[in-house]
Amino acid sequence: MSTEIWNVQRLLQWTADFFKRHGSPSPRLEAEVLLAHALKLTRIELYTHYETVPAAEQLDTFRSMVKRHGAGEPVASLVGSKEFYSLGFQVTRDTLIPRPETEQLVLEGIEFLKASAPEGKNGAYNILDIGTGSGCIAVALAKNLPAAKVLAVDISPAALAVAAENAKKHQVDDRVTFAQSDLFAAVPRQQYDLIVSNPPYVSAAEYDALDVSVRDYEPKEALLSGPTGTEIIDRILEEAPAFLRGGGRLLIELSPMIAEAVLARARSIPALAEPTLLADFANKARILSAVRGE
Ligand SMILES: C[S@@+](CC[C@H](N)C(=O)[O-])C[C@H]1O[C@@H](n2cnc3c(N)ncnc32)[C@H](O)[C@@H]1O
Repeated sequence: MSTEIWNVQRLLQWTADFFKRHGSPSPRLEAEVLLAHALKLTRIELYTHYETVPAAEQLDTFRSMVKRHGAGEPVASLVGSKEFYSLGFQVTRDTLIPRPETEQLVLEGIEFLKASAPEGKNGAYNILDIGTGSGCIAVALAKNLPAAKVLAVDISPAALAVAAENAKKHQVDDRVTFAQSDLFAAVPRQQYDLIVSNPPYVSAAEYDALDVSVRDYEPKEALLSGPTGTEIIDRILEEAPAFLRGGGRLLIELSPMIAEAVLARARSIPALAEPTLLADFANKARILSAVRGE
C-alpha cells in the first residue's frame, strides 16, 4: 500500500480484493464499514469522498482494522456495532453479534401480532424476549410496534447493560424492560401475546468446530447450549406455555441440525398447538413456531 495515491476509491478496491482473497462473503461491504468507521463518515458519504486521501492517522487506524479482520476478527467487533432490522446496535465482547437470520424472527412476530390482535388491544401487545443479548430482537419489535411492551431477559448482566443502551439509543427504553433471569426464573407469571427467543443452540462438538471469528470473539454462553444443542430450547418449550395467553405464539430460532429433534419435542408438549418449522431465506429450517392451545 505505499507508492500509489491511496484515496478512498483505491482503498476500497484494494481492501475488498484483500478480503475476497481471505474468503469473506461480503468483501466490499466489510471494506466500506471499516473505512467509514476510520474516517467517521457514513457508508454513503464514502461515495462522495472518492477522491479524498485520508490523513496518516486515519490510514493507520484503517490498516490496523483491515489486518485484524484479515486475521479473523469480525467487522462488528472492530467497529463496535452491527446493523439489524435497519437499526444500528452497539455490540461488545459480552453480546452476540446480531445475525441476519434472526431478522426473520422479528418479521414473523410482527406479522403474527398484527394479524391476530385480540379485541381492544390497540397494539398494546405484551412480548417476552428470552436471551436478549444486545437487545436487537426486543428493540426491533418495540420500534416497529409503537404501543407494545417488551420484557427482555438474559442471564448475563453485561449483555443486559449493552441492551439497555441500545433501547435508549432507539428511544424505546420506556417500553422495553430488562431483567436478569435464568430463562423464565425471574419472569412475572403474565400471559404474553408473543414469546421470542434466539437462545444458545450450538452443541459441544459444533462449538469446537466453529470458526475462530466466532469462537474467539463472541461469548461462549451465548452460543453453547450443551452436549446436544437442544438443552436450552427444551427448557424453553417446557416452560413457555405457562407464560403465553391462549392463542399466543412462541417463536424460537434454531439450527437446521436440531430442527427435527426440536419439532418432535414441541409435539410432545400437549399445551403447544401447531408446532411448525419455518425456513430461512436460504430455505433451511430456522424457526420453531408453536401456539398456546386456547
Ligand atoms: C444466541 S444469543 C442471542 C442474543 C440476541 N437475542 C440475538 O439474537 O442476537 C443467546 C443469549 O442468551 C443468553 N442466555 C444464555 N443462557 C441463558 C439462560 N439460561 N437464561 C437467559 N439467557 C441466557 C446469552 O447470554 C445470550 O445473550
